[in-house]
Amino acid sequence: MSSSNKVFFGELFDAASGSYKSYINGQWLRSCSNKVVTITNPATRKEEFKVQACTREEIDAAYEGCTEAQKIWRQVPLWKRAEALRKVASVLREQRDTIAECLVNEIAKARKDSLSEVDRSADLIEYCAEEGIRLLSKGDFLTSDAFKGTDRTKLCLSSRVPLGNVLCIPPFNYPVNLAVSKIAPALISGNAVLVKPPTQGAVSGLHLAQCFDKAGVFPKGLVNFVTVRASENGDYLAEHPSNNCLSFTGGDVGLSLAKKVGMIPIQMELGGKDACIVCSDADLDLAAKHIIKGGFSYSGQRCTAVKVVLVEGEVADQLIEKVLGGVNKLTVGMPDDNCNITPVISETSANFIEKLVMDAKEKGAKFLTEYRREGNLIWPCLLDHVRPDMDIAWEEPFGPVLPIMRVSNTDQAVEHANKNRVALQSCVFTKDIEKAIKISDSVQSGTVQINGAPARGPDHFPFQGFRDSGIGSQGIANSIGMMTKTKTTVINLNSPSFTV
Ligand code: G3H
Repeated sequence: MSSSNKVFFGELFDAASGSYKSYINGQWLRSCSNKVVTITNPATRKEEFKVQACTREEIDAAYEGCTEAQKIWRQVPLWKRAEALRKVASVLREQRDTIAECLVNEIAKARKDSLSEVDRSADLIEYCAEEGIRLLSKGDFLTSDAFKGTDRTKLCLSSRVPLGNVLCIPPFNYPVNLAVSKIAPALISGNAVLVKPPTQGAVSGLHLAQCFDKAGVFPKGLVNFVTVRASENGDYLAEHPSNNCLSFTGGDVGLSLAKKVGMIPIQMELGGKDACIVCSDADLDLAAKHIIKGGFSYSGQRCTAVKVVLVEGEVADQLIEKVLGGVNKLTVGMPDDNCNITPVISETSANFIEKLVMDAKEKGAKFLTEYRREGNLIWPCLLDHVRPDMDIAWEEPFGPVLPIMRVSNTDQAVEHANKNRVALQSCVFTKDIEKAIKISDSVQSGTVQINGAPARGPDHFPFQGFRDSGIGSQGIANSIGMMTKTKTTVINLNSPSFTV
């Protein structure tokens, strides 16, 4: 971190407790709880940062700030809201090195990927400003005479209005990008936001908060970043009567939150067991390239990572040879060295991955690479002859482990893909476009990629999962839609307005 960045970000830090402050009501706050949450560096496995464990009273204060600020913000002209977002994007770009440094140390994301996450986030904010102007300036106009038996005596004007306060809960794997993918649509729509950063990724999130603060263009209280112990206060945040909307990305905890929040719009993405179907007529070089990138980017810790390969038996050996060649070239090591495979997020996560690998081993999977682990660092692991009775056939390892299942035909592949509990995305490789479309129509997942690996981006594309993978659709336009509601004004006339 350069010395100028230290000065810029200095106010975030509470020297007395050695911890980062929360951002509530436009102030950097040391919690009255006198409790902190520690963040362990996944690579060194040593304590890296501490953040405040805020209290319920502080959460109440943040929501009060939101409510008051939103009353002002919803009246700010749309073009000014867009301008404010562009200002944040520009501050974020200035701070890319500092924030990337936090990502490297908090979530062990390779430095180049950490920098890309920050750049992508600034791009997303700018796109959202433009899209918001286009979408929110439009409305509908209806006349009553379209309905049988009614004269033209009522004119109905519809527009989109903000919901109020949006609770944003991003995950550890994109603590900046998946935070702004929630915050930017909320703000352009005229809402206030309360962000609960993930524990790993909280400091990156607080540095992002400071970009909003330093932009100097938002009413105090409009944007809040509150760190809490999720086990103590996660439900309190979500169930709060001042919460008008929840945008959540994370794990199964989302299922229970969805039941608790009551009658507010929710948008959730809870992971994916993304299947990759490789047909016998596929371009195997292309498929292998996408499987390697899709399966092992950020060490497989993406909800859109390829999590099971379903290959037609007649081309399985050829495909595997190509995939294995690429996997053997992946570099393994520390995020600072820009390695392809870096330590996974925590020891708990590494243990879970290992359990899946050992289960597959006991049940007879063939190891194409030697299983190796040092601390949280797991070498890329490619498993062949995986069968449905192995846990790895169904569970998301969220790590650098890729199971391959040989199938007799594409019907069998589709059948397996459709039994996945978390059906976020899937992909199919074939040179036959008709076959690709038939498979796409049969696979029940939020997105089917043809001849490309699953991916959320570009960030204006719709993004959604089926079954337990989520609810609602994300992507910039869909998020703006979800974070607003329709409001109509009806003009009643004494006599029909005109006759043609
Ligand atoms: O981990 C979940 C993310 O939404 C995946 O995003 O496809 O850009 O890596 P990505």
